Amino acid sequence: MLSDQCFKDLTLMISDVIDQVGLDDSQHGKRVGYMAWKCSGHLDIPNFSPTDILVTGLLHDIGVSSSRDHELLVTQMDWDKAQAHCEEGTKLLRDLPFYSKYIPAIRHHHTKWPALSESDIDEGSKLLASLVFLADRADALLFQYLDNNPDDEPIHAMAFIQAQLTDQLSDYFAPVCVDAFIRASSIDAFWFNLESAHLDRYIHNLDISVPVSLDIQATEAVALILAAAVDAKSPFTADHSIRVGKLACYIAQQAGLPDLRCQQLRIAGYLHDIGKLHIPDKILDKQGPLNAKETIAMHRHGFEAKDILERVEAFREIALWSCQHHEFLDGSGYPYHLTGEQIPLESRILTIADIFQALAQKRPYRDSMPLSQVIGILTDLTTEGKIDANVLEIVYAHQKQCWTLATAADSLNRP
Ligand SMILES: [Fe+2]
Ligand SMILES: [Fe+2]
Ligand SMILES: [Fe+2]
Ligand SMILES: [Fe+2]
Repeated sequence: MLSDQCFKDLTLMISDVIDQVGLDDSQHGKRVGYMAWKCSGHLDIPNFSPTDILVTGLLHDIGVSSSRDHELLVTQMDWDKAQAHCEEGTKLLRDLPFYSKYIPAIRHHHTKWPALSESDIDEGSKLLASLVFLADRADALLFQYLDNNPDDEPIHAMAFIQAQLTDQLSDYFAPVCVDAFIRASSIDAFWFNLESAHLDRYIHNLDISVPVSLDIQATEAVALILAAAVDAKSPFTADHSIRVGKLACYIAQQAGLPDLRCQQLRIAGYLHDIGKLHIPDKILDKQGPLNAKETIAMHRHGFEAKDILERVEAFREIALWSCQHHEFLDGSGYPYHLTGEQIPLESRILTIADIFQALAQKRPYRDSMPLSQVIGILTDLTTEGKIDANVLEIVYAHQKQCWTLATAADSLNRP
């Protein structure tokens, strides 16, 4: 699929997902992108347009995949492990050609200017990295200020942030970037746009038109980036998404679905639990039974998956199957309480792959179940009219292969 709108939708979707890894600090990427974009009006960065600068800001923390890393990055000015997420981000972006020009800047967005100016990357990427680093630290200072002054608004932090950037942190960044920030941030509206509702509207109204082709390989590469964020946020179910994707794809192949359908279903498996990014860690990681409120919070994740994914056209069907992976044929599932024919075959396959893998995987509060017990539980669910008997028949006929895909370490290798 080739469209200008696709690049904007895709970039904002990825940015929203990265921001949700740090639940208490949503919109960090958007604030960094916005501040860098505003500064771009006051300095010339060779080979990078204002759109490029905004996109680099939106995606700069793409390698941050745990809430704890995210928290450290916004609460501390220096953190000796900061480079790890820069390197991880570089790896995640390498399969997406339309983002490759941002890789050097993302790799160096925590490198201080004395080292950055001596590095072997191109001049434009040096300045872009420094500008994003500056906007990133400005946002960390804003976070600290508002934490200490909860009744204040961003504009009240102007003097504090400007003083820090020109004094204590002055040798962190390229002098032209500091100068550009002081000029851009001396306007009141700069700070008003950083308020949550204004920021969302401002970014969504920007013209970010770049023609990109999002074929099935690129769609899968994006899905793997998003899946890494989900599994890292929930370490007790780490690797669950990748294994469910591979298992769902395999079952779809045995059911005779066309190749493209099978590939899409693998992607849906990678992303089926993406809505868990909205669930607080203390509920996700709870080892005992959930209370009523926690159960409702957990039951949102299918709904939230659709909300995240359906904005990008290439992900629309994937969004639909993902949001239905906890529906049961008798209407006792959630969140839509669909019944029978309302649930397409792809969603039914995903449901069975999800249950099979979850039971086969060792959890901190229980051992992995043996294959016979997994098949027994799935058979009971069929008898109760909850899951598709024909799909289970396929699983039953290929149970050893299903078990291998659901449990073997090599099933985590990229396709
Ligand atoms: Fe960062
Ligand atoms: Fe950041
Ligand atoms: Fe789920
Ligand atoms: Fe799941």
